[in-house]
Amino acid sequence: MGKASALSCPKCGNEPGSKIVFRCPLCGSILEVKVEVEHLTRSDLQAMFANRDRSIWRWFDFFPIEERASIVSLGEGSTPLIHATRLGERLSLPRLYLKNDTVLPTGSLKDRSNSVGISKAKELGFTTATVMSTGNAAASVAAYSAAAGMRSVVMVPLGTAPSKIIQARACGARVVVVDGDFDNEVAQLYKTAIAEFGWYDCLSSNPYRDEGKKSYAYEMVDQLDGEVPSWVIHPTAGGTGIYAMWKGFQEFRSLGWIQKLPRLVASQSEAAAPITYAFTKGLSDVEPVVARATVAESIQVGNPVSLGWRALAALRESNGTAVALSDAEILEAQRLTATLAGIFAEPAAATSVAAAKRLRATGTIGPEELVVCNLTGHGLKQPESIRFDEKEFAPIAPTLAALRERLQRTETGE
Ligand SMILES: Cc1ncc(COP(=O)(O)O)c(C=O)c1O
Ligand SMILES: [Zn+2]
Repeated sequence: MGKASALSCPKCGNEPGSKIVFRCPLCGSILEVKVEVEHLTRSDLQAMFANRDRSIWRWFDFFPIEERASIVSLGEGSTPLIHATRLGERLSLPRLYLKNDTVLPTGSLKDRSNSVGISKAKELGFTTATVMSTGNAAASVAAYSAAAGMRSVVMVPLGTAPSKIIQARACGARVVVVDGDFDNEVAQLYKTAIAEFGWYDCLSSNPYRDEGKKSYAYEMVDQLDGEVPSWVIHPTAGGTGIYAMWKGFQEFRSLGWIQKLPRLVASQSEAAAPITYAFTKGLSDVEPVVARATVAESIQVGNPVSLGWRALAALRESNGTAVALSDAEILEAQRLTATLAGIFAEPAAATSVAAAKRLRATGTIGPEELVVCNLTGHGLKQPESIRFDEKEFAPIAPTLAALRERLQRTETGE
């Protein structure tokens, strides 16, 4: 049973004594949930490795859910960890692995979080879940709410492209377009609405939800037969992935199931890199920046206030680093990942590969080290990121001669 501790404040130690207050009333920090795992043994681990349920729920004991009956699952987890030999050869990284989260149920890493988050909502008796988002989180919350029999409300800023929210709408979410800026007016309305209507908050300020991404750590240890990667690179916006992976690896180490820990890397777009900036400057907390436009739309976050400082701590404790990539580097990495490894990832996701390339080129990552790049979202989430010449798809006459001519003229791939 996943026995959750009371929510407590990681900054001031306060325990507000409520299961549904997510922020410390004294200092404003996001509260933390801990799960009691000390009693788990190696034979428990073997049973988890062997479980026929390949979803994240084979790690049930590590999640803050009291009863299995509360679980809301779409089969998320155990995504392929692929030894990308051709891409690795290109980047001079023979031990390059890609954690392919593009195949998660709604096409992004958010499913790891929302499966746990919505399960907790069900356990706590909520009937409506909400999130403010322009893309991946909205689709994921909508899907898990649908599976749980809950309503979902998604708030998006005016100007959000319909293609970004159609997946959420298709799963029954009420999509509310708000005339305002995401970090300001939309955020303010979101907060007020939660207080007014008592909805369940699915942002990264939800401590239950955040536990879901610990599953990255457990899965990697399993898939690498107990070996721990030297480096794990994660596309970073709010910082949940970095923070949660670190927690997951530490739990395994505290149980004696692994001996070493990986070095963690946050990969960001240089147009929205507050965590990289704070890391480089040696700051203990993140200072919000105004995010500029970038191809890495899903991680275009300038104000990761809730977990930013915890992600920073994880990067430092792991002796890791943070990297800010240009759009050109990101698009190149997206292309190489597709043409050399066969995985079509969205640009935000490809930042991990772009960072691996940069860190190898600068010698930070050594040639023999085992590197895992998390590919956190599917390319079909943002297909317009692939630029092509209209002429490429102009129809040809159905003759071999025309086909030959076209093949000579169009060169794709690597
Ligand atoms: C595709 C993709 N990758 C990565 C992230 C990073 O999230 P976090 O830093 O909270 O783990 C997000 C969400 O914001 C995302 O949509
Ligand atoms: Zn506090």
